[in-house]
Amino acid sequence: MERLFSRRLAWTTAENDLARAEAAARASGRPLLDLTVSNPTQVGLHYPDEEIARAFADAATNPYQPSPLGVPSARAAVVADYARRGVGLDVNQVALTASSSESYALLFKLLGDPGQTVLCPEPSYPLFEYLARLESLIPRPYRLRFDGLWHIDFDSLDFTDVAAIILVSPNNPTGSFVSREDFDRLAGLAAEHGHALIVDEVFADFPLGPSADAVTAVAGRPSPSLVFSLGGLSKSCGLPHLKLGWIATTGPDALVRGALARLELIADTYLSVGTPVQMALPGLLQAGASVRRQILERVQRNRQALVKALGAHSPCTLLPAEAGWCAILRVPEIMSDEAWAGTLLEQDGVLVQPGYFFDLTMGATLVLSLIVQEPVFAEGVARLLARVAAT
Ligand SMILES: Cc1ncc(COP(=O)(O)O)c(C=O)c1O
Repeated sequence: MERLFSRRLAWTTAENDLARAEAAARASGRPLLDLTVSNPTQVGLHYPDEEIARAFADAATNPYQPSPLGVPSARAAVVADYARRGVGLDVNQVALTASSSESYALLFKLLGDPGQTVLCPEPSYPLFEYLARLESLIPRPYRLRFDGLWHIDFDSLDFTDVAAIILVSPNNPTGSFVSREDFDRLAGLAAEHGHALIVDEVFADFPLGPSADAVTAVAGRPSPSLVFSLGGLSKSCGLPHLKLGWIATTGPDALVRGALARLELIADTYLSVGTPVQMALPGLLQAGASVRRQILERVQRNRQALVKALGAHSPCTLLPAEAGWCAILRVPEIMSDEAWAGTLLEQDGVLVQPGYFFDLTMGATLVLSLIVQEPVFAEGVARLLARVAAT
């Protein structure tokens, strides 16, 4: 078997204890309060179905004209969406993909040779490990440190044989935007070492308030290094099932041109983005605004409900966040985060993610999704806090 299949797939696929316990609870028919849901189509939002259908009405019958980086009208719609966020781009700086995950895959092909390293932030979204290894690259973590705000720990960056540097802003699950100071320093180091930055901004449309010191749109900030900023319908418009993401490329002109010419070749090999969703994109970006508004309101209301439920004297602490769909709750360190998540599932029927899933290393932390329906969230939090009080 080992000789038959690629070594890229050699990571462990063993199910963890929590996943096993969840599967058993679901199989037994036990109702669960799921505070891990991250799929916006499953949390009772009102989708503008007619507007979405109208956007697709003419799109499916268009003749097929392969355009590797995306049809011009769709790329122009992405440029207009960046303008909404105050960023001026040219259509030639934009490439369309089927998702942000595919954006990573294309960029890893563009930037890396097998065996090279991708610098990945920690704590962060755990999929980078898989995305890098599937392109025969090796993830190497660098740390983010918390002192009330999250900062890049520059001492933890090791630039040996690096293919690319990933930054997630706002980061998932910490909800932290990269600060101007950290971005400029990282972009400077990237340029000095001849590397590109891949900045995942898929949650940038969900700020919780003004962030004076933050880079809220990386594509709008000058950089001496090449910067790929990732976005997509999945989070920005709550439409993950329509499969459309984008890459905005900024930095020195010659590097941007060189990158796009090569990206075109890679994308031409797959032509993975469907024509109908590209033709529908201007309408979808408009329709998606109402979904985005609902998600942001939901996130803000659930966060406020959590603050209220915690009150002034709780043994739990809610970590501050500037954006995003998650809350990180520090719970008493009388057991591990994994044990807390297991206890909440077994005893209370409440599903949460332990912080270690995201490489959070500060004591015992639980990660709660804030896009969950409000009554479910409130009941789940009430049970969680009652369990903490009783333990
Ligand atoms: C930080 C981050 N980037 C990318 C993705 C994946 O986005 P997409 O659905 O566009 O592949 C996620 C999904 O949760 C995410 O959390």
